[in-house]
Amino acid sequence: AEPLRIALAGLGTVGAGVIRLLASNDALVTARAGREIRIIAVSARDRSRDRGVDLSPFEWCDDMTAMACRDDIDAVVELVGGADGPALTLARNAIREGKALVTANKAMIAHHGLALAQAAEAAGVPLRFEAAVAGGVPVIKALREGAAANAIVRVQGILNGTCNYILSTMEDTGRDFGDVLAEAQALGYAEADPTFDIEGIDAAHKLAILSAIAFGARLDFASVSAEGIARVRAADIARAADLGFVIRLVGTADVENAEPGNAGSSPARMLQRVRPCLVARDHPLAHVDGPTNAVVAEGNFSGRLLFQGAGAGDGPTASAVVADLIDIARAAADGRDAGPPFSIPADRLVPMAPSEPGDRRGR
Ligand code: HSE
Repeated sequence: AEPLRIALAGLGTVGAGVIRLLASNDALVTARAGREIRIIAVSARDRSRDRGVDLSPFEWCDDMTAMACRDDIDAVVELVGGADGPALTLARNAIREGKALVTANKAMIAHHGLALAQAAEAAGVPLRFEAAVAGGVPVIKALREGAAANAIVRVQGILNGTCNYILSTMEDTGRDFGDVLAEAQALGYAEADPTFDIEGIDAAHKLAILSAIAFGARLDFASVSAEGIARVRAADIARAADLGFVIRLVGTADVENAEPGNAGSSPARMLQRVRPCLVARDHPLAHVDGPTNAVVAEGNFSGRLLFQGAGAGDGPTASAVVADLIDIARAAADGRDAGPPFSIPADRLVPMAPSEPGDRRGR
């Protein structure tokens, strides 16, 4: 079969990870995709930076947003980041040009995912973003496909590796917040702007996406309330421990009136919030340490499901990106496709705006 030809935009931690993964797991990826997944062209803001990977097999493109217009590629992988700017231009170009789009960009999907999904659906173009939520944990696929027969009544998770690393390291060592943050940045977990991590915005991006998938709700980032971890002190963590709790940044989405039989009556309402929580030691989320993410979903027939794994870093995130590419390569070959995301009738579930004073709206 012909290779699936890729344009890769963004050569940070994740981009370099994708290049390394494709080189090292070449044979198994080709076998599972049914054809080779071959990077043709790459682009990033800075050409000269040493990323520890050999870029010589690929064509360098100065204009990243124009890569989507090349005739010699089938799919665009967007790892640039940022809700708007070149990432969004590239994504729109890819869909317009009929190229499959894979992105790890949670900010862009949280803000523009509905419009992008509608455009992709209209164009018959696959759009995948497994890496946008919980890094290497294949939770989007699990909820869309594995749990597809269930009404999900609650989804809850630790969705930011940086905050979880900071909180669990503060707990283990009694060290200061700032000191541990610098370490998380050095390890490559934190966003370019770490305030997105610390203020709960990154987790809110992921929760908005996750709840839209889990509940078939309208994706609406503005209705997620977020509070971060900057005010959590080592003393709070110690006091919580005395009482049998740990402190974690947890995102929760709940629905009211969500019984499957309620179609036609008043629409169900969804409440989404991210905040530091006291988590009892016997709760599954209490044992999630370091840059790990975990998602707990309650299905009405499956019962409680727990997904856990590395939520950040090059290898795990690249693993999710390449899994999306394998799906696209296979779907094009055998016509099997999971269908577009966010295609459920838009108003079955209505996200509620936060009502508590002091809540930060999504931004
Ligand atoms: N900054 C993010 C985190 C990276 O710490 O979880 C993965 O999205």
